[in-house]
Amino acid sequence: MMAIKLIRVNKSDVTTLKNLSRQTFIETFASDNTAENMQYYLDKSFNEEKLTEEINNPNSAFYFAMLDNQPIGHLKLNFGPAQTELKENNGVEVERIYVLKDFQGQKVGQLLFDKAIQIARDRNAEYIWLGVWEKNLKAIAFYTKNGFVQFGAHAFLVGDDEQIDIMMKLVLTPVISPS
Ligand SMILES: CC(C)(COP(=O)(O)OP(=O)(O)OC[C@H]1O[C@@H](n2cnc3c(N)ncnc32)[C@H](O)[C@@H]1OP(=O)(O)O)[C@@H](O)C(=O)NCCC(=O)NCCS
Repeated sequence: MMAIKLIRVNKSDVTTLKNLSRQTFIETFASDNTAENMQYYLDKSFNEEKLTEEINNPNSAFYFAMLDNQPIGHLKLNFGPAQTELKENNGVEVERIYVLKDFQGQKVGQLLFDKAIQIARDRNAEYIWLGVWEKNLKAIAFYTKNGFVQFGAHAFLVGDDEQIDIMMKLVLTPVISPS
């Protein structure tokens, strides 16, 4: 088992975050999208100015999964008004959860996901939700295994290609501590 540490990303990490975001997005989606649409999305979403704004947003939180000194995965959570939809105070959005291809299937995603649950519980949230591309069967299997169920769908643009995101939700049941 690898010794992975989760650390909060701060604004001095923006270049590392940009590079990791780009690499994981390319590894996940390049084979299903045109080079032009990929480039457009990468430039629009993963530039230092936009990522710095997101890191500085008090209603978002980024984490790296670190193996020794190397970031191999990342998580982005949104709370309240920073959520891309719903925007309810009793919900938390997992906007991004990505592990480098070489390190997938070794519980790094699970570690990041468990962090999301812990943070949502600490904030007394009642549910966690996310959007996932309908063709991303691997991620859908991961979320289903973690108890998420579909509650809707919405259109999502990658460049000029309109794709369908499935919206999934996990209702957090209260943890009953023994008295
Ligand atoms: C989805 C992702 C975050 C999962 O992280 P991971 O580190 O590969 O997954 P883990 O090793 O933590 O797996 C945890 C559990 O999820 C399930 N799981 C993970 N990958 C799976 C797959 N491809 N098929 C079925 N189940 C899977 C497994 O049941 C696993 O538990 P098990 O090992 O006890 O069977 C990772 O594969 C990833 O980054 N994918 C590319 C990016 C992406 O699609 N992100 C989501 C965008 S919405």
